[in-house]
Formats: sequence, structure tokens, C-alpha cells
Amino acid sequence: MTALSRRPANPVVGLTVSHESAELHVTGAALYTDDLVSRMAGTLHAWPVQAPHAHALVTGLRTTPALGVPGVVRVLTAADVPGVNDAGVKHDEPLFPDEVRYYGHAVCWVLGESLEAARLGAEAVEVDYEPLPSVLTLTEAIEAESFQGAQPTVSRGDAGAGLARATHRFSGEFEFGGQEHFYLETHAALAHVDEGGQVFAQSSTQHPSETQEIIAHVLGLHNHEVTVQCLRMGGGFGGKEMQPHGLAAIASLGAVLTGRPVRLRLNRTQDLTMTGKRHPFHAVWEVGFDDDGMIQGLRATLTADGGWSLDLSEPVLARALCHIDNAYYVPDIEAHGRIAKTNKTSQTAFRGFGGPQGMLVLEDILGRVAPALGIDPTELRRRNLYQPGQATPYGMPVRHAERLTQITDELSERGELQRRRRAIEAFNAEHEHVKRGLAMTPVKFGISFNLTAFNQAGALVHVYKDGSVLINHGGTEMGQGLHTKMRQVAATALGVPLSHVRLAPTRTDKVPNTSATAASSGADLNGGAVKNACEQIRERLEQVAARTLNLHPSDVRISGGVVTGLGTQDTIAWADLVRAAYFQRIQLFAAGYYRTEGLHWDASRMQGEPFKYFAYGAAISEVEVDGFTGAYRFLRTDIVHDVGDSLSPLVDIGQIEGGFVQGAGWLTLEELRWDTSDKPSRGRLATQAASTYKLPSFSEMPEVLNVHLFERATEDGAVYGSKAVGEPPLMLAFSVREALRAAVGAFGPAGHMVELGCPSTPEAVYWAVDAARRAGQEAGDGGASARSVAPVGSGNGTAGNGTLERELAEHSAPRGVAE
Ligand code: MTE
Ligand code: MOS
Repeated sequence: MTALSRRPANPVVGLTVSHESAELHVTGAALYTDDLVSRMAGTLHAWPVQAPHAHALVTGLRTTPALGVPGVVRVLTAADVPGVNDAGVKHDEPLFPDEVRYYGHAVCWVLGESLEAARLGAEAVEVDYEPLPSVLTLTEAIEAESFQGAQPTVSRGDAGAGLARATHRFSGEFEFGGQEHFYLETHAALAHVDEGGQVFAQSSTQHPSETQEIIAHVLGLHNHEVTVQCLRMGGGFGGKEMQPHGLAAIASLGAVLTGRPVRLRLNRTQDLTMTGKRHPFHAVWEVGFDDDGMIQGLRATLTADGGWSLDLSEPVLARALCHIDNAYYVPDIEAHGRIAKTNKTSQTAFRGFGGPQGMLVLEDILGRVAPALGIDPTELRRRNLYQPGQATPYGMPVRHAERLTQITDELSERGELQRRRRAIEAFNAEHEHVKRGLAMTPVKFGISFNLTAFNQAGALVHVYKDGSVLINHGGTEMGQGLHTKMRQVAATALGVPLSHVRLAPTRTDKVPNTSATAASSGADLNGGAVKNACEQIRERLEQVAARTLNLHPSDVRISGGVVTGLGTQDTIAWADLVRAAYFQRIQLFAAGYYRTEGLHWDASRMQGEPFKYFAYGAAISEVEVDGFTGAYRFLRTDIVHDVGDSLSPLVDIGQIEGGFVQGAGWLTLEELRWDTSDKPSRGRLATQAASTYKLPSFSEMPEVLNVHLFERATEDGAVYGSKAVGEPPLMLAFSVREALRAAVGAFGPAGHMVELGCPSTPEAVYWAVDAARRAGQEAGDGGASARSVAPVGSGNGTAGNGTLERELAEHSAPRGVAE
């Protein structure tokens, strides 16, 4: 075992403790960025002027009428920017645009004594627009070849040869939707200029260092003149990885120009219409299997809808391509990627960061084609799982691949797979208009930032004379429990009780050059840094204790705040040891640093070992579908998930439950609708409130949800043997969509291939049920034997987009068998 992963006796990591702010959360006492406004005198409020066009030139901008509105103090425009008028890291996001690129794009910002004054001022600003043609949908973008950024390919072997050797070939098309983050706390920033003339910006940001850099370049300052602090966020989910920067820059610019604090908080409508979402994707694919159902070859082109600017679209696409295999070995593969440029919000990071989109493509394929192969989908998935010794298409060995099989075996038992299958068969035989379905899907997710440089972190740990401990680290808290885990890591590394350790808010002047708290790596990276800082202090204290106890320093033991040693009954209290060390002039604070070892990634060839390890898991879900309406219930979900040796089991189980439900929302309920008409409202987000955008709530939780942490799962490469947990469980929700597919299939004849829209809303499910029933009528209803395949390509019979059937007719002989 490595020094990084080894736990001492009686560790504080691994204990079941509640979230460090749980009490504050539930009593409402927890402070978020915008709660600080009332503590500042003379704060101005910012309101955007949002353009009512998907694409247009700004030909005139008159701010004078706004200045006539009582309480309006200033209107911020491009002319006010002392530095660079750009909010992105790719220099394609003008902060004050002269070309509107999406409906709702802010062209300027009004500052007022009150929010109402700023709002009325924004209404008074006069803007002239010259509308331009716009590209909205992925289909339009692909037709117009409206792309942006790099077009990478991940490949191994010869996809053509793999397809040629396959005895069963299929091809198809699949387009699926994005997702709104819907964090409870909308974007917020509060900036002021402090006594030394430096800018202090509080921001709801997952990436304080980058927010700092963008503020500095907009203001023409050096990084050391700008400090960014994040108290905590009311959810980020990736939506606050890149998108806070411009908003914090607006607040900071206002503060510099007026000398007063400026507060910018988007209301829900502004947040929904202005900020980026999960990328919708389009995929075309060809896949081949041998007679045993083993995947032989896959060729696919993924097109991500990036929206109006690049933002994080390139890394999101890279992760999608690196996860198209999910948990399956694909010997010959070629996966191309490109990013559509459309007149929509700039799509961004969202839990899973492209991984879910890549994996969904193959999970959808397996679910669709299993009936044509005559293999049960769960069995088809199981056969294709990675085996020890195999590597991913980008050349990384899949270490611990055996865990996939172990996890699915354990889950089959815990989830009573066989018994429930029989129960479902019996239920379906008895019910004509209500059907149940069950599915099991696995997850394999790579942990680390694809970009190697981001895999480093820092921490600053102070031990005060009274023995109390204060830690700072580069990670941000968004509800995921990172601070809780970091307290446990520090308590473990120092050998003190949890109560001794307090966490200070994340600030760029405490720990510099930090990476975003993202890629689920927050605990791995910052935990490594906190542990490193604590160990420096502990080693110094062991020297002091060794002298007092008359021992060799390596024989000193510090645990639970009590200092003792091998072969002695003597003890020293932690606080006394610290005090003694102070009087001996021993440094009681330390900066810690961590870099993930062993990573390398060639982004041009898309080859290397970008991940430290893989997180594994699997889920079984059971659903019930109403054939008249397509409405469904989630009956039960069982999960076995690998978090290594958990740092904090309660936090991890919460992350698994939350991630799973958020994934189920994306795949089944949440549907972003944009106005794609040719009316003046073209490009307007139609789902811009919780009334039209359906989020999962208690009623959409599975009626039974069992989460089990995979045991004896020490991960050698991470802090105290743990694994990252933030994102991977989201993809356990594939099991829900595949269970819906199974239930839909039960309305049709044996062997019917179910095409299911995504999100698989009740409406989408209804149309799939309709298609299944029609297939049943065409097949003479029920006459088919278990192995036979319904005739395909019967043309107008399908209510879905019918692509698969058509493609099959073109590419395969009847029964789905080629050649
Ligand atoms: N959990 C909560 N409660 N709120 C969040 O915003 N974000 C998720 C995940 N879990 C999120 C969350 C995302 S997108 C990531 S990348 C990780 O938390 C980031 O935190 P970590 O690296 O500390 O796991
Ligand atoms: Mo998470 S999408 O990496 O912030």
C-alpha cells in the first residue's frame, strides 16, 4: 500500500459524520455570496439589458435615457473596459458584445441604488439591432457546417475491419437533450475595492483562481491585485466552473468605476436564459457484433451543441469521446467528435462533463439492438464488460476491471435480479395496459482532469498555540461535502479529534493557482495537499514529543489528541505538545502541495493515461409504464458503487443518491425547449421557469432506493484509499431509461427493438409504446417465438424517427443478420 493511501490506527476518515454545514443548511443560517450584501453599506445593484434576438448586430446603444431613471447610477458598456473586453479563456466571449449571439445575451449592464432602479434603468436603455440569420438546432448546424474548435478522434485498431468481421451489424442515429443545472443558488457576485486599491470579489464560483484571472484581465490588473473568495455555493454541478467569471468581472468593473460595492445576482429567469447548460448531443453510429454478442467494431461521430462560444466544449467533447466505451471492451473503434456553433447559451460543464453523453450513446445502442441479437440486454452488457488486462481505446489499461463483474454479481444478488425478473414476467402476463421493466447498467468513469496540468492542488494549515487547527485549501464547497472530508483528512493526518479542525472559506490569497473544483477530483487533489501540510507539522511535533517521551520520533504515536509512543505508558495532551513546540520555536503551520503522479495525455493524438483510476458502479432499476399515457413510476433502484475506502460514508451515499436522481432527471423528465420557429421570438428559451422545466422531486424518487458501497475497495492511488464520488453515480441513471425501454418492449412482440426518445418523457415513452403495439399488430400479435425478430423497415409503422429501422433495412438482412 502506498503512503498516500495507508490509514493510521483509529482514523477520522471513514467515520460517519454529517455534512459540516448541515445544521446551517437546514436552519437557513448558512451564508451564501448574496447574503453578504446586507453587511455592506452603499451597495449598488446590477441588471442586464438582454437582447431579444438569437443573432443580431448592435447598431446603436443609447444609455442616456437610463441615467434619467431615479436611482440609476451608471450604465456599464464596452467603452468602460480598461483591459480586455472578454470573459472567456478562449477569447471568444466579448463581455459587452457588439454582435448578439443568442436570445437573452446581455449587451450592457445598469447599476442602480436598488435592484428595482437598475431594472427600470435597463428597460430605458435604447438598443438598435440588425437581425441576422441564426442557427439553432444541431440538425441546422450540421447542415450549415457551423462548427467551432477542435475535431478530435479517438481510435484503436481498424473500425472498418471490426465492422466487416461482425456477423450482426446495425447503424443508427441518436439525438438527445441537454440539462439545466438548476442549482438552488443562482449566479452571484459581490465586489468592492478595498483600502489598498485591490479588488475583492466574492463569487459563487467553482474556480476562484480563474474568476480572479478573468477579473484581472478585464480590469487590466495583475492577478495579485485581485482576490476572489467563495464562501460556499448552493449547488454548482459544473454550471459555476466557467460561467461565473464574466459576471464577477461586471461586478468588479462596476466597483472600480463607482468606488462602491456592486452586487450582481441573476434572478432565476436570467440564470436560465443567460447561462450555459449540459451539451445536447447528436450521434451517428455503426456497430458490429459476433454471434456471441461480443462487440467487434464501433464507428461513431458525436456532435456536441456548444452554443455561441467554446467555453468548456472542447474538454467536454474529449471526455465524451474517452467514455463512449463506458464499461465495455470495443476492440476496433473510431469515434469522431465536433462541436456545433449555435445561437444558444454557451453550453458548459455539467456533472459528468461529457462522460454521460458519450456513455449514453453506447448504452442506447446496446439497449436497442439486444432484441435483434436475441440476447437479453443485461446478459449482452455483462458479456462485453472489460476484463482484466484490457485497455481503453485511448490506450489506458483498465485497472481493477474485475470489479465490474464483481459489482454486477453482487448487485444481482442484492437486487434479487432473478426473483424480480420472474415477478415482472408474471405481472406483465396479467396486465395488458400496464407493463413493468427492469434493467441493469454499469458505470466506469475516469478520475482526473484530462488536462494533466490541472491535477495539482495546494493547502495552508495552521495549528494555533491552543492546539486548534484551521485549514485552507483550494477546493470550493458546493454541497458535495468536500469541506467535511477535508476536516476528516486533517484530523486523521494530525491525529486530533474532528472538533479541533475548522475550515476557512476558499480564497485566492490563501492558496494560489488552484484548479476548478471539478472532475470529481476535489477530495483527491485537495485531500492530498491537506494531508501533505498536516504531515509536515506532525513530523515536527513528533520530534518535540520524542524528546519529552525519550523515544525515537518514528515511535511516537498521535491519535485522538493524545500523544504517546511505543513501549511507554506516558502521554502528552495534544494542546500541551503544541504549546511546548511553540516555546521551542517550531513552525506550527505549513503549505501543502499535491500532484497526481503517473498521468500523461497527448490531446492531439487522443492517447495516453489521463486518469489516475476508474470509479465503478452498477444499478438495477425497475419501472412501471402506463400504456394509455406513457406515464411511469420508478419502483425500485439498487446500487452498488465503488468509492474506494470511503472518506465519509454518509457524504458519499448522499452523493450517490443525488447524482443518480439528477441523472434520472436528465434522462427522463428535464426537457429544454427553444423556440425554433421563424417568428421574432426565434431562439428564445421556452422552458425558462420551474413551471415548464420539470425537475425530479420526491415523487420521482424510486419508491425503494438501496445504495451499497462496494467493500474492500482500497484505491492505492488516492488519499487514504478513497475514490472520487461526485460525478460517476449520475450515470447509474441509465438503468432507469433502459428499464423504461424494457417495459415499453413488453407492449410489443418478442424481439421488437425499442427506439426511445431522450429525455424519455412520458410523451416519448407513449410514442415508443405506440410503435411497440403497432409492431405487435404487424407481427400477427404474439405469434413470434422468443428468438425471432420482428420484421424491420416496414416504413411508416414507427412513430419515432424510425431511423434505426430504416438503417437496418438498408444494412442488414432480415433477423438483423448481415451478409
Ligand atoms: N453535489 C452537490 N450537492 N452539489 C454540487 O454542485 N457538483 C457535482 C458533484 N456533486 C455538486 C455535487 C460535480 S459536477 C462535481 S465535479 C463534484 O461534485 C465536485 O466536487 P468534488 O470534486 O469535491 O467531488
Ligand atoms: Mo463537475 S461537471 O466537473 O463541475
